[in-house]
Amino acid sequence: MEGKNVEGEMPRFAHPSILKVVEQKKRIKEKLSGIKHRIGVFSAKGGVGKTTTAVNIAFTLKSMGYRVGLLDADIDCPNICIFLGISEIKDAEYPLVPVEKDGVKVLSTALFVDDNKKPIIWRGPMIGKMVSEFLENSEWGDLDYLIIDMPPNTSDAPLSLIQLLDLDGFVLVTTPQHVAAVNTIRSGMMAKRLGVGLLGVIENMSDGENRGGIEVSEALKCDFLGAVKMDYRLSQMSDAGKVAVLEEIEIKEAYEEIVKKLI
Ligand SMILES: Nc1ncnc2c1ncn2[C@@H]1O[C@H](COP(=O)(O)OP(=O)(O)O)[C@@H](O)[C@H]1O
Ligand SMILES: [Mg+2]
Repeated sequence: MEGKNVEGEMPRFAHPSILKVVEQKKRIKEKLSGIKHRIGVFSAKGGVGKTTTAVNIAFTLKSMGYRVGLLDADIDCPNICIFLGISEIKDAEYPLVPVEKDGVKVLSTALFVDDNKKPIIWRGPMIGKMVSEFLENSEWGDLDYLIIDMPPNTSDAPLSLIQLLDLDGFVLVTTPQHVAAVNTIRSGMMAKRLGVGLLGVIENMSDGENRGGIEVSEALKCDFLGAVKMDYRLSQMSDAGKVAVLEEIEIKEAYEEIVKKLI
């Protein structure tokens, strides 16, 4: 098949599947054109605090006066609504309009599922399709920052998101443990290989020594943005649907320091 010269980058003879992605990407770019900055929060490791970090960065930016959106891109295991105490269920009609929580626009597949304990079990191609449909049909309006809570691993779901979103870069999250650092380095290397910049790494659940954060920043040659201490109040608040930076001054200050470096 003869290819169109989309965005001036494509060879004239390209595989149809590549052209499809390029065209999808173009449509998504148009759709998200009112958003100044897109920042993904990423680690290949589950449970390190990606969602916690995404939520608290988003609300810190909001408290600094920016217009902020929060995209739950963990399409099959969405958690943002639990963290924010959002129990609303919306009709899955296009366009997908975010809900607002304390002035932050929030969009998650969980908003369109009637029982959040039901598993979503999809093969890779379905995940990719869902990601692109979700992005193509979302209606964010004008924003300064869109914070994207990424799914773990280094395969289909993050790959689709990286290909489709024109990201400013990733904030990586690790914990102090070597195993978390190794898996976070994997996600950083994936990002680099796909041409996405690294904005820096945060050590979450820190004991104050920053071993994991330093291991990641040295391996990837990216900035160490700071640490958030292991603090049981963070997990209590996320279970209660409360945002830590809106409740606890110490936690607020830790995230403010990180966000100032980030922006
Ligand atoms: N700094 C912290 N101190 C204590 N608990 C935390 C901290 N960060 C996250 N948690 C808790 O750890 C669990 C996993 O965090 P989560 O953000 O869901 O990780 P991920 O999105 O990477 O899977 C959640 O229950 C969360 O509340
Ligand atoms: Mg998560």
